[in-house]
Amino acid sequence: MKVGIPTEVLEGETRVAATPETVKKLRALGLDVVVQGGAGLSSHFTDEAYRAAGAEIGSSELALGADIVLKVNRPVAAEIAQMKSGAALAAMMALCHHEDILDQLAAGGIDAFALEMVPRISRAQSVDVLSSQSNIAGYRAVLEAARLYGRFFPMMMTSAGSAKPTRVVVLGAGVAGLQAIATARRLGAQVAAYDVRPEVKEQIMSLGAKCIELDLGESGAGAGGYARQLSAEAQDRQRSLLAGELKKADVVISTALIPCKPAPVLITADAVAGMNPGSVIVDMAAATGGNCPLTERDRTVIKNGVILCGITNFPALMPGDASAFYARNLFNFVSLCVTAADNGLQMKDYLEDEITASSLVTHRGAIRFKERK
Ligand SMILES: NC(=O)c1ccc[n+]([C@@H]2O[C@H](COP(=O)([O-])OP(=O)(O)OC[C@H]3O[C@@H](n4cnc5c(N)ncnc54)[C@H](O)[C@@H]3O)[C@@H](O)[C@H]2O)c1
Repeated sequence: MKVGIPTEVLEGETRVAATPETVKKLRALGLDVVVQGGAGLSSHFTDEAYRAAGAEIGSSELALGADIVLKVNRPVAAEIAQMKSGAALAAMMALCHHEDILDQLAAGGIDAFALEMVPRISRAQSVDVLSSQSNIAGYRAVLEAARLYGRFFPMMMTSAGSAKPTRVVVLGAGVAGLQAIATARRLGAQVAAYDVRPEVKEQIMSLGAKCIELDLGESGAGAGGYARQLSAEAQDRQRSLLAGELKKADVVISTALIPCKPAPVLITADAVAGMNPGSVIVDMAAATGGNCPLTERDRTVIKNGVILCGITNFPALMPGDASAFYARNLFNFVSLCVTAADNGLQMKDYLEDEITASSLVTHRGAIRFKERK
């Protein structure tokens, strides 16, 4: 049974779905691996390193024609067209925003797994790509803020006078937000954080940050540990209460997301106008509309003297570790999908395991994603 690793084709993507380390592990599991020539170069993994780990280096046709295709991003139409019927595909598909590929995947007879749909249960932690990539994104977003901000993050005392520590506000304390808090603290900033889910207060405080608490008159906790969309009234109240907090911030890292919905607006144009010139907002929700309406996707712009960063793919800026973590998640996922049989390895019944069943979005020609909506 062959695993294929094609080169990623979406613009700006630098990650790869297998590393020499995971190729070795896949080989030890009894799988053959074909890596498209140059697939790892943007992550600094050479063809020679993949070969030394036991992979064959081949064309995109060969990689996409494998029994199990592993990718970082959802496939484009030309890639799906090269896959064979009955093959398994695992990738981060962002299906809530790109449902259009499901018809072609089903028509091609591909069993496709959308890894963002793996349930957030303890047993699935080793395959949780959302967490592994959000962690990296939260870290890298703070470094980007520090790069854009024209002052020190830590308190600095020098013979030329002293600098105050930067005041960082983190909006949304999920995986990315908590890593952003920890990173900003490590850089010496004073950090305050806010989340609509009250249960994260302890986690915020355990990282040495102040927890911003707003009385919205309703809870933002939704199903499965995720946030839910607030009523229009609560949203208005939230924005106006937050504007007061944002006035005091030098740097804002906003990470607020609601699954399958546009990002909630937390930072209004008026709130931006109330911030000091030179302040920085890194809007990590830019891919789904942004937490600030002034954010421009994949651009850094200055509005009223405030620097707004709209990078949508932070993990791609750290491709070495982002690929390493993602590839380990994928190796663990593949381990769940295959089993030893008398005549070698065979695919398991995907519907028998909660992790594979929940993420299986097309199966034997049918679309399962819509059924689950
Ligand atoms: N058990 C596990 O293995 C595991 C692993 C990772 C995450 N989780 C859980 O999954 C859940 C989602 O985490 P995530 O990092 O994927 O979140 P996410 O990326 O979906 O959202 C980021 C954060 O934005 C917050 N948010 C949404 N709307 C907001 C608003 N209007 N104002 C302020 N904040 C707002 C959310 O509450 C969340 O904390 C959490 O409960 C987390 O603990 C579980």
